[in-house]
Amino acid sequence: REHDCTGRLVLPGLVDVHVHLREPGMTEKEDFGSGTRAAAAGGVTTIVDMPNTSPPVTTAARFAEKLELVRDKAHVDFGLYGMIDHDNADEIAGVAAQGAMGLKLFMGQTTGDNRCPDDAAIFRGLEAAAREGLVVGVHAENDHILRMLIDRLRASGRTDPRAHLESRPDFIETEAVTRIITLATEAGAQLHIHHLSSAAGLRRLVNLRAEGHRVTAEALVSHLLLDDSAYDTHGNLIKLNPPIRPAGDVAALWAGIDRGDLDMVATDHAPHTCAEQAETDVWRAYGGFIGVETMLPLMLTEAARGRLTVSDVVRLCSYTPARRWSMPGKGHIAPGFDADLVVVDPDREYPLDASGLHSKHNATPYAGWPLRGAVETTFLRGTIVHHDGEIVGPPSGRQVRPRPVPNRGTR
Ligand code: DOR
Ligand code: ZN
Ligand code: ZN
Repeated sequence: REHDCTGRLVLPGLVDVHVHLREPGMTEKEDFGSGTRAAAAGGVTTIVDMPNTSPPVTTAARFAEKLELVRDKAHVDFGLYGMIDHDNADEIAGVAAQGAMGLKLFMGQTTGDNRCPDDAAIFRGLEAAAREGLVVGVHAENDHILRMLIDRLRASGRTDPRAHLESRPDFIETEAVTRIITLATEAGAQLHIHHLSSAAGLRRLVNLRAEGHRVTAEALVSHLLLDDSAYDTHGNLIKLNPPIRPAGDVAALWAGIDRGDLDMVATDHAPHTCAEQAETDVWRAYGGFIGVETMLPLMLTEAARGRLTVSDVVRLCSYTPARRWSMPGKGHIAPGFDADLVVVDPDREYPLDASGLHSKHNATPYAGWPLRGAVETTFLRGTIVHHDGEIVGPPSGRQVRPRPVPNRGTR
């Protein structure tokens, strides 16, 4: 079959290693069908789904149930994370055997109560991950201190969106980054820091790498494109853990991208219902918002503005994540790789139309943003799964399992 790509760019499909598609148990927010349709329409051909569902994916049996539940609904290929909690080290081998892409560790509070703030429990989980050679992806925030700060702010009567930022000053992140890198090295676990968000956290990461610690880190599209001035416009819609921060932190993240200190970019696609997103009391509001469908258009727009190159976008959003998680056949256009391709029109200019998004709920801070660069066609393993905003064909996504790698630890 032929496909006319005159005047277009053909890129490897994006690999978004940080999405929350909410199955099982939170399907009023999103499900595997809607979330992977959004991915396909955004040129994302592989996603890694997070385990903070209801119930959370903490056991081998729950991993099996989740796989069964989602496997026939996916319009793109998917990896699944298991999770480290305070008492599940015995389950990790069974989770790994089913092809888990990695294990999520929530050091701090997030959607669902999956926190594992206790250092001994964290260490046991890291040891179990190391035995199985699984990447541990960490949400690095100090839970004890952020909860103390939330209590203080509440007691003072604050309920506005900026209070959330004030409850999570940068040392909340820096301290957790320091601790988890220290513990992961001792345990011999492979470590990835999800959504690194602060200038100070990034400086600490760079310093610890200079001491010989091996760790990868991701920035979110939202942390790169929004700063705290957006609280005035968007209120709790942009409540995010870790928070959208002042412009100085955003500049530091871009500098980290330029220097190669931040290895990759992901979305933290974290859907909630429109009613939940409209909550005005910051302590009742959920963190997170959608993003998987808008990642590539937004990043192409940054490329068109000269912030980075299209090759940088491919490296950050496809090649590096696929390599980091040892995804066979992903992240590159070459013989031996899957024909996961996205055809983009790099020159098309248009405003982002939130009503055309494929998620169950379309609240996004990027509505109406002027874009340059449009996703036209998405191929999954050689077959068109999306064209011009329409999903094509039944779900054909498959589970991606990491190629087993010898665990060389973090140092
Ligand atoms: O704001 C967030 N929302 N941060 C997370 O880490 C999780 C996510 C969610 O699941 O809603
Ligand atoms: Zn997180
Ligand atoms: Zn997340």
